[in-house]
Amino acid sequence: MQKSKFRGSELEDILNSVSLGTRHLVAPLFVRDHRAKAVRRSLFPDFSSLSLEDTVFKVGQMMNLGISSVILFGVPSLRDSVGSDAANMSGIVQRTVRKLKEEFGEALTIITDVCLCQYNLSGQCGLKDSSGDAINNDNTIRYLSEIARTHAEAGADVVSPSSMMDGQVKTIRTLLDETGFRKIKIYPYSIKYASSLYSPFRSLAFSEQIMDHVHMDKSSYQVPFMNSRESIREIQNDILEGADMIIIKPAILYLDIISAVKERFQFPLAAQNVSGEYAMIKSAGSLNWIDEHAWIISAICSMKRAGADLIISYFWKDIAAILNS
Ligand code: PBG
Ligand code: ZN
Repeated sequence: MQKSKFRGSELEDILNSVSLGTRHLVAPLFVRDHRAKAVRRSLFPDFSSLSLEDTVFKVGQMMNLGISSVILFGVPSLRDSVGSDAANMSGIVQRTVRKLKEEFGEALTIITDVCLCQYNLSGQCGLKDSSGDAINNDNTIRYLSEIARTHAEAGADVVSPSSMMDGQVKTIRTLLDETGFRKIKIYPYSIKYASSLYSPFRSLAFSEQIMDHVHMDKSSYQVPFMNSRESIREIQNDILEGADMIIIKPAILYLDIISAVKERFQFPLAAQNVSGEYAMIKSAGSLNWIDEHAWIISAICSMKRAGADLIISYFWKDIAAILNS
């Protein structure tokens, strides 16, 4: 990365004006089962999934940089029609959570992604009903709560359902409370826009059948990108159902929504700077078409300025290095 045109004091003023610190960052990591097939062609520049051992090492690096939260996405070795490996106590996420808690204890906040799409054959975020076409909302949320319970049992601090199913927060909250996990928090992806910006993520997480899955259509449950009224409703429901924080993604194209939601609900809010946003900056930066350093700073600061309390970003290492410089 080329050195930015910002000078030291100027950069400090920028960061101070939005009071951005490493405490606002969450590092997304993909942990891959060692038996999982390698990705045929990743569309994710300078980013890959990690073995369990490398994940532990990376989290150590992250904590040395002052970041204490990680969100884990699993890349399992087994996919089947119902995504059964997602709720396996010896699944890759469950094993990793246990290991990370052993190593880092309370100092580390572990958030786990709770969804089915990495675990089933369709790459869709829900279970299909018997006709095989539509997604069955009720069966899906029941299974999601089961997955969340296994993450909690492994030691996760926060579960993040990302399937956009109706009632997912309430069903998860109820099961966690009934099974002795009252303290476990829920940060749902409350607004997840149907977006073309997820393709690098899918190319890594949906390894084997990437070309089919990268451009798949999830518009029956994700939010249409021009509809802000529906977005507000999704947020309201999740807060009523017991969310502890809400997450909006993508971030850069939706700063207006982040800001409107913050203003209206005054509720803890996280923004996810998604893989497509990362890939655009990375690729243009590596060609020196843009000043990557300056772009990262302005992109992350804009999310904080809009009202995000936490920012989940693949740029965590770069931002932390800037903040610590
Ligand atoms: C699905 C999921 C997606 C992402 C994370 N979990 C997108 C999708 O397939 O619809 C994308 C995150 C990113 O692009 O960084 N549950
Ligand atoms: Zn999903």
